[in-house]
Amino acid sequence: MKPPLKIALAGLGTVGAGVVSLLRRNAALLERHAGRKLELVAVSARDRSRERLIDLKGVPWHDDAVAMAALPGVDVVVELIGGSDGVARQVVATALERGKHVVTANKALLAHHGTELARRAEAKGVALGFEAAVAGGIPILKALREGLAANHILRVCGILNGTCNYILSQMRDSGRDFAAVLAEAQNLGYAEADPSFDIDGVDAAHKLALLAAVAFGNVVDFAAVHVEGIRHISALDIAFAQDLGYRIKLLGLARLTQHGIEQRVHPCMVPLSAPLAHVEGVFNAVMVEGDFVGRVTLEGRGAGADPTASAVVADLLDIATSRGAPSFALPAAALQERPVSPMARHCGAFYVRLMVVDRPGVIADITAAFRDEAVSMEQMLQRGRAPGEAVPIVLTTHDTEEAAMMRALDRIKALDTVLEPPRMIRVENL
Ligand SMILES: NC(=O)c1ccc[n+]([C@@H]2O[C@H](COP(=O)([O-])OP(=O)(O)OC[C@H]3O[C@@H](n4cnc5c(N)ncnc54)[C@H](OP(=O)(O)O)[C@@H]3O)[C@@H](O)[C@H]2O)c1
Repeated sequence: MKPPLKIALAGLGTVGAGVVSLLRRNAALLERHAGRKLELVAVSARDRSRERLIDLKGVPWHDDAVAMAALPGVDVVVELIGGSDGVARQVVATALERGKHVVTANKALLAHHGTELARRAEAKGVALGFEAAVAGGIPILKALREGLAANHILRVCGILNGTCNYILSQMRDSGRDFAAVLAEAQNLGYAEADPSFDIDGVDAAHKLALLAAVAFGNVVDFAAVHVEGIRHISALDIAFAQDLGYRIKLLGLARLTQHGIEQRVHPCMVPLSAPLAHVEGVFNAVMVEGDFVGRVTLEGRGAGADPTASAVVADLLDIATSRGAPSFALPAAALQERPVSPMARHCGAFYVRLMVVDRPGVIADITAAFRDEAVSMEQMLQRGRAPGEAVPIVLTTHDTEEAAMMRALDRIKALDTVLEPPRMIRVENL
């Protein structure tokens, strides 16, 4: 039998503790699959005295995670500290520099430095595994790199943030507004005390940048992701979505267009006929469309100790058995710098909600604005009547270029019968 794979683990929080538990509980299974033992030989975290409820008997503790990453005799360093820079980056850089394999769940680090780290790993002939960084327990990167490798990928699209999906699902179920549901999610531990990375779409954008790089063979380009969050989604929009046959989801979407690569994270109207519309609560899902395979959807737990550990240890098994494709499916030197397809050129359908004064002529002014910008309306709906008072009007459009839509909304905003800035949500054809 081959000698054990010697693992140093930096970070013993939610995911780190999950990895220790999995390595312990499934040790015999892992040994059978790898043909060798997976042995934890060093751990590091910030506070040695913290009660962790995991079995670390006999595993040497290191106060300095960066020094631990340089230890001779360690084959793989697992980085589960988090953050795009600082200690996490130093741990990964040190491990690669010393010719050690790296496994990480750190999407922020990879979204900012992924291409460079993949280059360094290749130069040293070691692996950089990050399955856990995208959609937690869902093995989407492995599916793209291996099972779907024979396809041109036409698009990827996913529910990549469980916190947002939970909030939107709860808003629909309970009819409550965003702020109330967010506060409840924080009490239940589904949202951080500072939830901005999640609810402003940044976390999903980190994951989308990685997903797009693997799917389309481009360098990781986080700065090129168009990002909008869910703070402005109201209970009213959620109710209208239901009436129109949609669910509102925060999606990450990427595809190649004639203008370059389009990467966007924003709330979407998803038709009820699409599988993604039915992914509820903290679950994640990713739909990939390939030219030969058609659509493939994977759904599962996108976060949490056990699912994320499952992905981390799958990467460890690949390293233990010396199998697996390059980190981003292609050698780092082959990853392409692509032009960014601007949102103004995005073509799709739209949902718009307006708060207007209920009086004759209002609808005619609105439809004239759309006509003047060549935006074709699909349907229009008014809820209730209150002559002289504010009423909501919602409408959906046929496919149109976003720039034209924005010009039409600017015209509508200027009408004195329109009382609030229009709410626009893109409709996604899935
Ligand atoms: N949580 C999830 O469900 C999930 C899912 C997918 C990916 N991820 C990613 O996984 C990574 C870890 O997330 P997490 O939720 O497990 O974080 P966490 O619970 O906050 O744990 C972070 C760990 O890092 C340790 N740490 C902090 N600073 C350190 C330092 N200077 N030196 C050594 N250790 C240090 C902490 O030590 P102490 O314990 O002593 O404070 C803690 O054990 C992040 O990149 C995150 O984005 C998380």
